[in-house]
Amino acid sequence: MAEIKFFKNADMPLEMHKVRIIQKLNLLPIDERLKAITEAGNNTFLLKNRDVFLDMLTDSGTNAMSDKQLAAMMTADDSYAGSETFYRLEAKIQQIFGTKYFLPAHQGRACENVLSQVLITKPGMIVPMNYHFTTAKAHISRFGAEILEIVSDDGLLAKSTNPFKGDINTDRLSELVKTRKDDIAFVRIEAGTNLIGGQPVSMANIKEVSAICRKAGIVLVYDASLLADNLYFVKTREKEYKDTPILTIMQEIGNLTDIIYFSARKLGCARGGGMCVNRKDLMEKIRELVPLFEGFLTYGGMSVREMEAMTVGLEETLDMDMISQAPQFIKYMVDELSALKIPVVTPAGGLGCHLNAKEFLSHVPQNKYTAGALASALYIISGIRGMERGTLSEQRNPDGTEPLAQMELLRLALPRRVFTLSQVKYAIDRIDWLYQNRNIIGGLKFTEEPKILRFFFGRLTPDSDWQQKLVKKFKADFGDSL
Ligand code: F0G
Repeated sequence: MAEIKFFKNADMPLEMHKVRIIQKLNLLPIDERLKAITEAGNNTFLLKNRDVFLDMLTDSGTNAMSDKQLAAMMTADDSYAGSETFYRLEAKIQQIFGTKYFLPAHQGRACENVLSQVLITKPGMIVPMNYHFTTAKAHISRFGAEILEIVSDDGLLAKSTNPFKGDINTDRLSELVKTRKDDIAFVRIEAGTNLIGGQPVSMANIKEVSAICRKAGIVLVYDASLLADNLYFVKTREKEYKDTPILTIMQEIGNLTDIIYFSARKLGCARGGGMCVNRKDLMEKIRELVPLFEGFLTYGGMSVREMEAMTVGLEETLDMDMISQAPQFIKYMVDELSALKIPVVTPAGGLGCHLNAKEFLSHVPQNKYTAGALASALYIISGIRGMERGTLSEQRNPDGTEPLAQMELLRLALPRRVFTLSQVKYAIDRIDWLYQNRNIIGGLKFTEEPKILRFFFGRLTPDSDWQQKLVKKFKADFGDSL
């Protein structure tokens, strides 16, 4: 997004695109919203989208596509093997990352499945990483390895001024290499570290991690799902890269790592994924699994139309106007909420604005699912759907006890180019009201608790009649307003 100054000094992002296709939204009256979230077991994943006003659940597969992406979909070459569409995508990947081989997969977690199977070769292995993502952790654990989170010390502080909270603590990595080198299946760097608030990783850190891994002969895997945001932060926060073209930064990442994988539901604003590999030996091992789990090597479970959209979407990632839209909107939201003294994760990251539920609802203990309760409350009073990223998103220990999450966040994702600034202002207004009335909000307890990935399907109920009280206060303050 070009830096445009306003006459009256308003600090406000300005869109460098216009809206040409729209989808009508629906904002239910508050009583119906209470009914909808009750029917959904207080789990925002179980809400029907028709009952949602602003869907801030995720940016995954929900980014707005460009006219050029939609046009490219019409040129897709539908063939099982040897599709022209695949070769266009492969060439684009080779250009932007400078990697030799591209192996397609139907989405990010499919890459995690295949890579875990290839790289976890014996029992008792470990996978050091800046921070886990839910699906990455689930697959790595499924193949018997343990993840070790070695994010920078600031990474777990909700409030910080560190511009790269997602960096790996290289002292801890060196220590692990010294003491457990043979147990390390691979090292994983996650761009735009999702679960700690979309926090970026610096190029300086990738270089250091890469040098440690190369010296010890350890495979370095880079999860590029949130790379678009991360590129923006490298350009704007890492002085040495201010004038470096985005393409050069991406090629540098390709050069410093052994495998790059990504969810194209995020990177490239389409639906799909894939693995970019430089080493022939690794490519050959991964290649054996792709047709088994994903599909033939020239589509990997993806629709050719989505692959065409992805090729154009990746090209558009090289455009600063494109990659700056979401981070600038997120910064606007974070700055406005901070000015109202509402606890949010700082500095503003990518993906979305993250409310710090531990502080927002300091009277609701984590074993009553603080962030889950906040998600339910926000939906009731605004029709906004966020995603719990806290204790609810964790898995119980084998002995049945509950690990309390290090961070207890409500993520309000801003899918790229989807919401307008007035919609963001509506969100800020309702969050402000909710914060003033936070003492009404209580906790949640499970009524149905699945063993694996419980946050997807679990159902919960409030621990008192706090939701009715919240509705009553909303009506007293807002009258007939939706
Ligand atoms: N890695 C990261 C960093 C992710 O954020 C995701 C998905 C994946 C891998 C898995 O990719 O969904 O295509 O299988 N994140 C979504 C989210 C689900 O809402 O943050 P996928």
